[in-house]
Amino acid sequence: MRSHTASQIVLQSVGERVTLAGWVDRRRHHGGVAFVDLRDHTGVVQVVMEPQRFEESVLLRREYCIQVHGVIRRRPEGAENPAMSSGMVEMDVEELTILSPSEELPFPIEDRTDAEELLRLEYRYLDLRRPRMARNLAARSLALRTVRRTLEDMAFWEVETPTLIRSTPEGARDLLVPSRHNPGAFYALPQSPQIYKQLLMVAGVDRYYQMCRCYRDEDFRADRQLEFTQIDLEGAFWDQDDVLAAVEKVVMAVASVLRPDQEIPVPLPRLTYGEAMARYGTDKPDVRFGMQIQDLSDVFAGTGFRAFANILGSGGVVRGINAGQIQMSRARADALIAKARQWGAGGLVWMVVRPQAPPRSPVAKFLSQVELDSLVERMGGTPGDVLLLVADREKTAAQTLGRLRLDLGTPDDPDSLEFLWVVDFPMFEEKDGEITFLHHPFTSPTDVEQMVSRPLESVARSYDLVLNGVELGSGSVRIHDPDTQRRVFEIMGIPEEEAEERFGWFIKALRYGAPPHAGFAVGFDRLVAVLRGVSSIREIIPFPKTQTGAEPLSSSPAAVDREQLAELGIAVAPRRARAKPSG
Ligand code: AMO
Repeated sequence: MRSHTASQIVLQSVGERVTLAGWVDRRRHHGGVAFVDLRDHTGVVQVVMEPQRFEESVLLRREYCIQVHGVIRRRPEGAENPAMSSGMVEMDVEELTILSPSEELPFPIEDRTDAEELLRLEYRYLDLRRPRMARNLAARSLALRTVRRTLEDMAFWEVETPTLIRSTPEGARDLLVPSRHNPGAFYALPQSPQIYKQLLMVAGVDRYYQMCRCYRDEDFRADRQLEFTQIDLEGAFWDQDDVLAAVEKVVMAVASVLRPDQEIPVPLPRLTYGEAMARYGTDKPDVRFGMQIQDLSDVFAGTGFRAFANILGSGGVVRGINAGQIQMSRARADALIAKARQWGAGGLVWMVVRPQAPPRSPVAKFLSQVELDSLVERMGGTPGDVLLLVADREKTAAQTLGRLRLDLGTPDDPDSLEFLWVVDFPMFEEKDGEITFLHHPFTSPTDVEQMVSRPLESVARSYDLVLNGVELGSGSVRIHDPDTQRRVFEIMGIPEEEAEERFGWFIKALRYGAPPHAGFAVGFDRLVAVLRGVSSIREIIPFPKTQTGAEPLSSSPAAVDREQLAELGIAVAPRRARAKPSG
């Protein structure tokens, strides 16, 4: 139906007779002549309909799908558009066929849009015609191809694992699928192929990968969806360094095709979890700017300032950031204090560094000259700098300052790509008085004895990949010894019978010569989103869900027939009564 695509029409095409097909991007009239910008998946060509051949009344609306046949000619002087690859030429149309008319559009097909996201998702097929979205799709496809090529070259096998499985513990809520043959029994959709990829290692697969869909029923954010894609990897006889090297290769290959403008030195820098929390107050630091957290506990070790002394006396810390030259009005200070409180801190102390005078601060009068001097020196304070201090429990101080840092800091170069590894995570953390895993329960501790005697101090052989403050992926060296695996479940307080019932089948496999193994999973949507410079993975996923898990295009999720439910042995409980709007 066509001899060329739009991108193939260039100055050298002058004189050629060609057939093009695509959509009416724009249409204008000049003295009886109709100028149409014809768009296809590669670009735009101006096609011209002269009045001697075409009635002015030929009805061509935006997004009509048309086919045109004609001769490429040079545009008249002054009418060239050097910004377009076909900008020096145009087609003198001899034949026009309307392949498919379009109704009035719900929003224009242009990069700039103020259409609501809901409307864009309802008409996603039109939204994806917008050039920027089309480029996102193309970038995703190129990334996918690059991952597969790179891993195939490294002798990985792509192995598919089931999507109807028994629930695995990855920390989120499962999406469940009822079984018709076993009424009352449910499959879970995989939160990740974790257990299956480990079983493949036991099965003798040396290097596994899969571009896999994962499902997690968790609260939505810009970088979280109900279903998302992972580049999932696992290797037998692998240690941490083998994993990091392989992941670096894949991710750098994708970065080099999507962002050829950026040089990324490898190996990527590594921070321990402890360092990341101390300096940035988060396990996924954005290191495109400094503003690192400083510990000031020693500065105030003997302080007479009661608020700080009490915290330090009860095992807390005093830490701070130098927020630089920001305006510090009363209102700004109040707003920052309110934020710090909202993030869990008891309060926030602010100071503005002054030349030849003690810092301006509501608490300056409670602090000694020596304390103020060492504080300003430690924070590298110069006149006009705003210093923000939090005295609290270590974790609270770190997290609050980490969030303030993100709130107040701006990247030195917003386009730069700052990758880093965070290694040596703790094995466990305490949540609501219970011990739970930080990564997942198949992660190996560095020291089994220590894990058993002092679990909360135990360090895991796990690692995360971070890009510009986004967690791109995680992985670990796995437990391949059935006894250690059992002990992890014990520490997590899972009773033996329950562990046997839920994971016995997996632990059994570890008893048949399981090789040492390790692996990783990269969040593919996040990787492409950050490399494309978009803030939400919804821009990268062809048909994403909304914040409430809906797909406006097909109106899913939706109710199903009574008979369908009956076959599954399911009855839906009556909806909880909704509060009526008042008034
Ligand atoms: P983890 O749970 O850290 O590890 O997931 C790996 C990466 O997947 C991405 N991701 C998500 N992306 C979009 N929406 C979501 N809801 C979502 N949840 C996670 C993130 C994350 O870093 N089985 C382990 C990996 C392993 O140990 O090999 C796992 O799934 O980018």
